[in-house]
Amino acid sequence: MKIIADKHELREQLAEWRREHEHIAIVPTMGNLHAGHVSLVDIAREHAERVVVTVFVNPTQFGAGEDFDSYPRTIDKDKRRLKKTPADVLFVPGVETVYPFGTEQATRVVVPGLTEHLCGAFRPGHFDGVTTVVARLFALVQPDVAVFGQKDYQQQLVIRRMVDDLNLPITIRTAPTVREADGLAMSSRNAYLDAAERRCAPALYECLRNIKGQLLAGSRDFDVLEKSAAEALATAGLAPEYVAIRSAEDLAEPAPNCAKFVALAAARLGQARLIDNVVVDA
Ligand code: PAJ
Repeated sequence: MKIIADKHELREQLAEWRREHEHIAIVPTMGNLHAGHVSLVDIAREHAERVVVTVFVNPTQFGAGEDFDSYPRTIDKDKRRLKKTPADVLFVPGVETVYPFGTEQATRVVVPGLTEHLCGAFRPGHFDGVTTVVARLFALVQPDVAVFGQKDYQQQLVIRRMVDDLNLPITIRTAPTVREADGLAMSSRNAYLDAAERRCAPALYECLRNIKGQLLAGSRDFDVLEKSAAEALATAGLAPEYVAIRSAEDLAEPAPNCAKFVALAAARLGQARLIDNVVVDA
């Protein structure tokens, strides 16, 4: 696996692959790689001959007072981890490569509507930073395929919308959430939990699985399901930001005859903000 920071070197490598008519997949990450990230690399390799993993802690998607400075940066460990995967290139651009005119003067890509509720309501501007950086990474890597995790359900929908709306010739794949043995979705931010908090954390997935069970049993009392799940989270020691049952397709408020739901939740636990979701095929 080659490690590349320079965009000219990256372009030479991409051109070499293109000459051989090889397809290229990108797996964008912010590093501190865990088994969830690695699963995306494996899926990327199933859909393209070449895989570029990017590690870039994107300043524009963190709000004031969020964890940009303390976000775990573990690049040496990440390099070792990726050596055991089918990644061809680890692209680790500096901020001056991703934002040549600086972050303040950066051209922005904004997806209205979809970004304004759920996580977007609690993290204003967050998704604008995500689409702005992902559009830049797409421009640098020019992939045929990009893989994102279902764990960040709203994020992958926002990126799909951006790609459709800008007519970008990129296929977006969404990969299943990889979990710890007790159900907690793997996340770089789980490192912020102390031992007692870590024991409470699986309640997030539990409450979502419980909603799934009730939806499959025929309940369509969305308000009641959301409220009792939020209460269960509070009882377990988490501070819920939202629990929401939505249409899986576009995150709209679901009609009772909706074919596919997604139940999503975000909660604070100590220093961590945890999110998770489950899709329910009704
Ligand atoms: P990051 O949180 O590092 O996540 C990188 C990718 O890994 C995302 O697509 C995310 O959904 C996926 N992922 C995280 N945890 C996962 C898990 N437990 N199972 C499966 N996939 C998982 O998401 C970002 O970075 C950034 O917003 C980014 C898209 C890179 C833009 O900066």
